[in-house]
Amino acid sequence: IDAGNGQVFGVNENGSIYIRQKGAWAQVPGHLSHVTVGPAGVWGVDSANVIYRMRGGSWIIMNGLLKQIDAGGNGFLGGVNQNDDVLCVNEEEARSATTPSSPVYNHISGKLTYYSCGLYGCWGVNANNDIYFRSNVTPGQCIGSIWVLIRGKLSMIETGTDGSVYGVNSDAKVFRRDGITSKQPTGTNWSHISIGQIRFKHVTADLGQLWLTTTSNNIIHCQ
Ligand SMILES: *[C@@H]1O[C@H](CO)[C@@H](O)[C@H](O)[C@H]1NC(C)=O
Ligand SMILES: *[C@@H]1O[C@H](CO)[C@@H](O)[C@H](O)[C@H]1NC(C)=O
Repeated sequence: IDAGNGQVFGVNENGSIYIRQKGAWAQVPGHLSHVTVGPAGVWGVDSANVIYRMRGGSWIIMNGLLKQIDAGGNGFLGGVNQNDDVLCVNEEEARSATTPSSPVYNHISGKLTYYSCGLYGCWGVNANNDIYFRSNVTPGQCIGSIWVLIRGKLSMIETGTDGSVYGVNSDAKVFRRDGITSKQPTGTNWSHISIGQIRFKHVTADLGQLWLTTTSNNIIHCQ
Protein backbone atom coordinates (compact mmCIF):
# COMPACT_ATOMS: atom_id res chain seq x y z
CA ILE A 1 0.00 0.00 0.00
CA ASP A 2 1.13 3.56 -0.62
CA ALA A 3 -0.64 6.64 0.72
CA GLY A 4 0.22 10.06 -0.66
CA ASN A 5 -1.34 13.26 -1.87
CA GLY A 6 -4.58 12.24 -0.12
CA GLN A 7 -4.86 9.05 -2.17
CA VAL A 8 -4.26 5.41 -1.28
CA PHE A 9 -3.24 2.68 -3.76
CA GLY A 10 -2.25 -0.92 -3.18
CA VAL A 11 -1.44 -4.19 -4.88
CA ASN A 12 -2.33 -7.67 -3.65
CA GLU A 13 -0.37 -10.93 -3.73
CA ASN A 14 -1.52 -11.57 -7.31
CA GLY A 15 -0.52 -8.15 -8.60
CA SER A 16 -4.07 -6.81 -8.84
CA ILE A 17 -4.21 -3.04 -8.23
CA TYR A 18 -6.67 -1.20 -6.00
CA ILE A 19 -7.51 2.41 -5.13
CA ARG A 20 -9.22 3.40 -1.89
CA GLN A 21 -12.52 5.14 -2.69
CA LYS A 22 -15.33 6.00 -0.28
CA GLY A 23 -14.15 3.51 2.31
CA ALA A 24 -13.75 0.57 -0.07
CA TRP A 25 -11.15 -0.87 -2.43
CA ALA A 26 -11.94 -0.38 -6.13
CA GLN A 27 -9.93 -2.42 -8.61
CA VAL A 28 -7.83 -0.57 -11.17
CA PRO A 29 -6.97 -2.32 -14.47
CA GLY A 30 -3.50 -3.84 -14.87
CA HIS A 31 -1.00 -5.85 -12.84
CA LEU A 32 1.85 -4.45 -10.75
CA SER A 33 4.19 -5.68 -8.03
CA HIS A 34 4.51 -2.22 -6.45
CA VAL A 35 2.50 1.02 -6.74
CA THR A 36 3.19 4.55 -5.51
CA VAL A 37 1.13 7.76 -5.30
CA GLY A 38 2.30 11.24 -4.45
CA PRO A 39 2.90 14.75 -5.78
CA ALA A 40 4.68 13.23 -8.82
CA GLY A 41 1.55 11.24 -9.73
CA VAL A 42 0.72 7.54 -9.73
CA TRP A 43 3.52 5.21 -10.81
CA GLY A 44 4.21 1.50 -10.50
CA VAL A 45 6.47 -1.35 -11.46
CA ASP A 46 5.59 -4.91 -12.47
CA SER A 47 7.29 -8.23 -11.66
CA ALA A 48 9.59 -7.74 -14.69
CA ASN A 49 10.63 -4.30 -13.31
CA VAL A 50 8.84 -2.47 -16.14
CA ILE A 51 7.79 1.04 -15.04
CA TYR A 52 4.28 2.40 -15.57
CA ARG A 53 2.67 5.78 -15.03
CA MET A 54 -1.06 6.38 -14.78
CA ARG A 55 -2.28 8.96 -17.26
CA GLY A 56 -5.97 9.66 -17.78
CA GLY A 57 -6.97 6.52 -15.94
CA SER A 58 -4.75 4.05 -17.81
CA TRP A 59 -1.16 2.85 -17.49
CA ILE A 60 1.51 3.87 -19.96
CA ILE A 61 4.91 2.14 -20.08
CA MET A 62 7.81 4.41 -19.19
CA ASN A 63 11.56 4.39 -19.78
CA GLY A 64 13.85 2.24 -17.61
CA LEU A 65 13.57 -0.68 -15.20
CA LEU A 66 13.04 -0.40 -11.44
CA LYS A 67 11.99 -2.82 -8.72
CA GLN A 68 10.65 -0.08 -6.43
CA ILE A 69 9.59 3.50 -7.16
CA ASP A 70 8.40 6.36 -4.97
CA ALA A 71 6.37 9.43 -5.97
CA GLY A 72 6.20 10.91 -2.45
CA GLY A 73 8.83 13.61 -2.91
CA ASN A 74 8.01 17.20 -3.70
CA GLY A 75 7.24 16.46 -7.36
CA PHE A 76 10.32 14.33 -7.98
CA LEU A 77 10.73 10.53 -8.11
CA GLY A 78 13.07 8.09 -6.38
CA GLY A 79 13.58 4.37 -6.78
CA VAL A 80 15.89 1.38 -6.87
CA ASN A 81 16.63 -1.15 -9.61
CA GLN A 82 17.34 -4.88 -9.53
CA ASN A 83 21.04 -4.21 -8.81
CA ASP A 84 20.12 -2.01 -5.81
CA ASP A 85 21.26 1.09 -7.70
CA VAL A 86 19.50 4.26 -6.51
CA LEU A 87 17.89 6.51 -9.10
CA CYS A 88 15.87 9.71 -9.09
CA VAL A 89 14.02 11.97 -11.51
CA ASN A 90 13.90 15.74 -11.07
CA GLU A 91 10.48 17.38 -10.70
CA GLU A 92 10.28 18.99 -14.12
CA GLU A 93 11.41 15.81 -15.86
CA ALA A 94 8.91 13.73 -13.83
CA ARG A 95 6.04 16.12 -14.56
CA SER A 96 6.68 16.16 -18.32
CA ALA A 97 7.27 12.38 -18.56
CA THR A 98 4.48 11.26 -20.88
CA THR A 99 6.24 9.16 -23.53
CA PRO A 100 7.94 5.71 -23.32
CA SER A 101 11.36 7.33 -23.84
CA SER A 102 10.94 9.41 -20.68
CA PRO A 103 11.87 10.17 -17.95
CA VAL A 104 15.65 10.56 -17.74
CA TYR A 105 17.10 9.12 -14.52
CA ASN A 106 19.89 10.45 -12.32
CA HIS A 107 22.09 7.83 -10.70
CA ILE A 108 22.84 8.34 -6.99
CA SER A 109 25.95 6.59 -5.59
CA GLY A 110 25.45 3.70 -3.18
CA LYS A 111 23.21 0.62 -3.01
CA LEU A 112 19.72 0.43 -1.50
CA THR A 113 16.83 -2.03 -1.59
CA TYR A 114 14.13 0.57 -0.79
CA TYR A 115 14.11 4.36 -1.21
CA SER A 116 11.30 6.73 -0.29
CA CYS A 117 10.98 10.52 -0.39
CA GLY A 118 8.81 13.04 1.44
CA LEU A 119 8.57 16.60 2.67
CA TYR A 120 11.99 16.84 4.34
CA GLY A 121 14.01 14.49 2.19
CA CYS A 122 14.60 10.88 1.24
CA TRP A 123 15.23 7.78 3.33
CA GLY A 124 16.40 4.34 2.29
CA VAL A 125 17.50 0.96 3.54
CA ASN A 126 20.10 -1.41 2.09
CA ALA A 127 20.37 -5.21 1.87
CA ASN A 128 21.99 -5.21 5.33
CA ASN A 129 18.96 -3.27 6.74
CA ASP A 130 21.13 -0.21 7.39
CA ILE A 131 19.17 3.04 7.25
CA TYR A 132 20.30 6.11 5.29
CA PHE A 133 19.03 9.66 4.85
CA ARG A 134 19.97 11.53 1.67
CA SER A 135 20.98 15.12 2.41
CA ASN A 136 20.11 18.21 0.39
CA VAL A 137 17.62 16.60 -1.96
CA THR A 138 15.54 19.25 -3.75
CA PRO A 139 12.93 18.99 -6.53
CA GLY A 140 15.42 20.31 -9.09
CA GLN A 141 18.47 18.49 -7.64
CA CYS A 142 17.01 15.15 -6.57
CA ILE A 143 20.49 13.65 -6.51
CA GLY A 144 21.22 15.52 -3.24
CA SER A 145 24.69 15.51 -1.67
CA ILE A 146 25.69 12.85 0.89
CA TRP A 147 24.32 9.78 2.68
CA VAL A 148 23.84 10.08 6.44
CA LEU A 149 23.85 6.72 8.26
CA ILE A 150 20.97 6.58 10.75
CA ARG A 151 21.16 4.43 13.87
CA GLY A 152 18.90 1.36 13.72
CA LYS A 153 17.95 -1.46 11.36
CA LEU A 154 14.90 -1.60 9.09
CA SER A 155 13.93 -3.76 6.12
CA MET A 156 11.60 -1.16 4.55
CA ILE A 157 11.05 2.56 5.12
CA GLU A 158 8.38 4.98 3.92
CA THR A 159 8.47 8.76 4.03
CA GLY A 160 5.09 10.52 4.03
CA THR A 161 4.25 13.56 1.93
CA ASP A 162 3.80 15.26 5.32
CA GLY A 163 7.41 14.45 6.32
CA SER A 164 6.64 11.54 8.63
CA VAL A 165 8.90 8.47 8.45
CA TYR A 166 7.88 4.91 9.32
CA GLY A 167 9.54 1.56 8.81
CA VAL A 168 9.39 -2.15 9.48
CA ASN A 169 12.29 -4.26 10.76
CA SER A 170 13.24 -7.87 10.02
CA ASP A 171 11.35 -8.91 13.16
CA ALA A 172 8.08 -7.55 11.63
CA LYS A 173 7.92 -4.64 14.08
CA VAL A 174 6.84 -1.09 13.08
CA PHE A 175 8.78 2.03 14.03
CA ARG A 176 8.13 5.76 13.70
CA ARG A 177 10.92 8.34 13.46
CA ASP A 178 10.40 11.05 16.08
CA GLY A 179 11.69 14.60 16.20
CA ILE A 180 11.67 15.33 12.44
CA THR A 181 11.58 19.04 11.59
CA SER A 182 12.79 21.11 8.65
CA LYS A 183 15.83 22.05 10.77
CA GLN A 184 16.46 18.47 11.85
CA PRO A 185 15.23 16.36 8.91
CA THR A 186 16.86 13.18 10.27
CA GLY A 187 14.83 13.37 13.49
CA THR A 188 16.01 12.08 16.86
CA ASN A 189 14.99 8.48 17.62
CA TRP A 190 12.82 5.53 16.67
CA SER A 191 9.62 4.73 18.57
CA HIS A 192 8.26 1.20 18.42
CA ILE A 193 4.55 1.08 17.58
CA SER A 194 2.85 -2.15 18.58
CA ILE A 195 -0.70 -3.28 17.99
CA GLY A 196 -1.12 -6.42 20.08
CA GLN A 197 1.19 -9.13 18.81
CA ILE A 198 0.51 -8.35 15.13
CA ARG A 199 3.48 -8.83 12.79
CA PHE A 200 3.86 -6.33 9.94
CA LYS A 201 5.58 -6.31 6.59
CA HIS A 202 4.79 -2.82 5.28
CA VAL A 203 3.74 0.62 6.52
CA THR A 204 2.83 3.90 4.78
CA ALA A 205 1.60 7.19 6.21
CA ASP A 206 -0.15 10.26 4.84
CA LEU A 207 -2.18 13.07 6.42
CA GLY A 208 -1.83 11.54 9.87
CA GLN A 209 -3.21 8.20 8.75
CA LEU A 210 -1.30 4.97 8.84
CA TRP A 211 -1.82 2.00 6.51
CA LEU A 212 -0.18 -1.22 7.62
CA THR A 213 -0.04 -4.63 6.01
CA THR A 214 0.56 -7.69 8.16
CA THR A 215 2.78 -10.66 7.31
CA SER A 216 -0.44 -12.53 6.46
CA ASN A 217 -1.54 -9.73 4.04
CA ASN A 218 -4.24 -8.27 6.25
CA ILE A 219 -4.67 -4.48 6.15
CA ILE A 220 -4.81 -2.22 9.20
CA HIS A 221 -5.80 1.46 8.89
CA CYS A 222 -5.04 3.75 11.86
CA GLN A 223 -6.59 7.21 11.92
C1 LIG B 1 -4.80 -14.85 -6.01
O1 LIG B 1 -5.05 -15.84 -6.99
C2 LIG B 1 -5.41 -17.12 -6.47
C3 LIG B 1 -5.50 -18.09 -7.63
O2 LIG B 1 -6.31 -17.56 -8.66
C4 LIG B 1 -6.71 -16.98 -5.69
O3 LIG B 1 -7.06 -18.22 -5.13
C5 LIG B 1 -6.52 -15.94 -4.58
O4 LIG B 1 -7.75 -15.72 -3.92
C6 LIG B 1 -6.02 -14.63 -5.14
N1 LIG B 1 -5.70 -13.73 -4.05
C7 LIG B 1 -6.31 -12.55 -3.90
C8 LIG B 1 -5.87 -11.74 -2.74
O5 LIG B 1 -7.15 -12.14 -4.68
C1 LIG C 1 11.92 9.72 21.20
O1 LIG C 1 11.98 11.14 21.27
C2 LIG C 1 10.77 11.70 21.74
C3 LIG C 1 10.86 13.20 21.59
O2 LIG C 1 12.18 13.67 21.61
C4 LIG C 1 10.53 11.25 23.16
O3 LIG C 1 9.33 11.79 23.67
C5 LIG C 1 10.47 9.73 23.21
O4 LIG C 1 10.36 9.27 24.54
C6 LIG C 1 11.70 9.11 22.58
N1 LIG C 1 11.48 7.67 22.47
C7 LIG C 1 12.45 6.80 22.73
C8 LIG C 1 12.10 5.36 22.55
O5 LIG C 1 13.57 7.13 23.08
